[in-house]
Amino acid sequence: MSFDTSSWLAQARALIGPAHVLSADNGDDLTPYTRDWRGKFQGPALAVLRPGSTAEVQALVRLAARTGVALVPQGGNTGLCGASVPMAGGLQAVLQLGRLKRIREIDPENNTATVEAGCILQTLQEQAGAVGRLFPLSLGAEGSCQIGGNIATNAGGVQVLRYGNMRELVLGLEVVLPDGEILDLLRGLRKDNTGYDLKQLFIGAEGTLGIITAATVKLFSAPSAEVVAFAGVASIAQAVRLLGAMRGHLGDRFTAFELISGPAVALVRRYFPETPALLSGDWPWYVLMEAADGGSDETLREAVQAALMACLEDECLEDVTLAGNLAQGQTLWSLRENITHAQQMDGSNIKHDVSLPISRIPAFVEQMLPRLQQAFPGARPIVYGHLGDGNLHFNLSAPEGVEAGTWQAQTEAVNQVLHDVVVAMRGSISAEHGIGQLKRHEMAMYKTPAELALMRRIKQALDPQGLMNPGKVL
Ligand code: FAD
Ligand code: MLT
Ligand code: ZN
Repeated sequence: MSFDTSSWLAQARALIGPAHVLSADNGDDLTPYTRDWRGKFQGPALAVLRPGSTAEVQALVRLAARTGVALVPQGGNTGLCGASVPMAGGLQAVLQLGRLKRIREIDPENNTATVEAGCILQTLQEQAGAVGRLFPLSLGAEGSCQIGGNIATNAGGVQVLRYGNMRELVLGLEVVLPDGEILDLLRGLRKDNTGYDLKQLFIGAEGTLGIITAATVKLFSAPSAEVVAFAGVASIAQAVRLLGAMRGHLGDRFTAFELISGPAVALVRRYFPETPALLSGDWPWYVLMEAADGGSDETLREAVQAALMACLEDECLEDVTLAGNLAQGQTLWSLRENITHAQQMDGSNIKHDVSLPISRIPAFVEQMLPRLQQAFPGARPIVYGHLGDGNLHFNLSAPEGVEAGTWQAQTEAVNQVLHDVVVAMRGSISAEHGIGQLKRHEMAMYKTPAELALMRRIKQALDPQGLMNPGKVL
């Protein structure tokens, strides 16, 4: 029997209102929802569905299950591995969660917020800040990514060193399962040993096991003092020594430790010429550090200064500058956050998101740089990332003059050179961005058969029709 698209769209419109079902036959442009922001992935969709409540999500999931239409959950569509847009083939609709954006409750005594999936990350940060609390997840896309997307990708960002990634920040979830049942796990408990921790199944599952509609997340006391420093180091090994030393000096006050290579700084300067020179000399590597606590700026500043002086004496860094105020700290952070945009403006690049035990990172980088130069002459490594978490974005920009298509055709070869070594050193090929469609085939190369078989059994048990974000992860 052929599929009756008009009848299906009419049913969807009856469930959530005509204004919230976008379709091509209605003259709507679906491209912003069917293509990822980098323009690397695009697929067809019957419609873009924009439910406004958990009940509406449930109704749509039931319609999809009854009619065999796959659903592609989508938050801010800021992801980096093509997980939030449809793949070619099959009947599918994008389930856009942006209207489900209420903050249901902030409980300052319990240090929790209960928030709907479509809430923009920055909105939650601001609302928590308004009652003296901190929601610590922080990343370059925070003005447009959504909490549901952050949970589905187990997002990391620049404060993981102190607060952990999204998995550590979620206490409870509300999920619409593939058969339409609502799983209410919205508990704000820090201790709960009643069997399997079911919420963890959906965190990092990239929408393949169900639709997250709300979450209860941890809040922390908002710091009253913050100090940002920028250091030049001669090698990655020195940066790793600096990390250990600063942690030793500052303990829990140490919140961020980001590595930026010299070429990454130069790239940002090229596309964001307002970026000031930060140190008097040039160094092969730089480190952006942040410390925060509940005391005064002055006291924290003195502690950071003393720690940095000790590090200079111990030859853990070559040169350093401290931001004098919030604005200067922001300038330093802008340099870090603009790397993604500068690399995008610069043209074609092959992105990586690897993690390794921190102690192995110097050896990894030392062997990787010459190996890649030899295999791909002229390729320009743009290396940066969350060194404090053992997570590097080891990206390779196209050699000057090489056309985008030609360079992208090298993706598999580049990935293999890099990922073979990462996995041999017991690292991961995706630290924080996820698998999506980009790295799905690499799962078979780098996960063990036992891991893959167990993942497939979980997928089959929850989503036997295969309608939740098909073609992603597995
Ligand atoms: P989307 O991209 O819309 O979706 C991502 C995945 O989540 C998809 O699989 C989608 O199907 C699924 N999904 C979305 N909502 C739901 C839901 N409600 N229920 C079930 N599944 C759902 N990531 C990091 O981890 N660390 C960084 O430092 C970082 N920095 C970035 C900087 C920039 C400038 C940009 C553009 C991106 C960055 N990212 C980073 C990647 C991206 O922002 C994160 O992966 C983010 O968590 C995705 O959120 P989103 O709402 O945009 O999700
Ligand atoms: C980052 O750390 O800046 C992000 O993960 C984004 C990226 O790698 O482009
Ligand atoms: Zn990152």
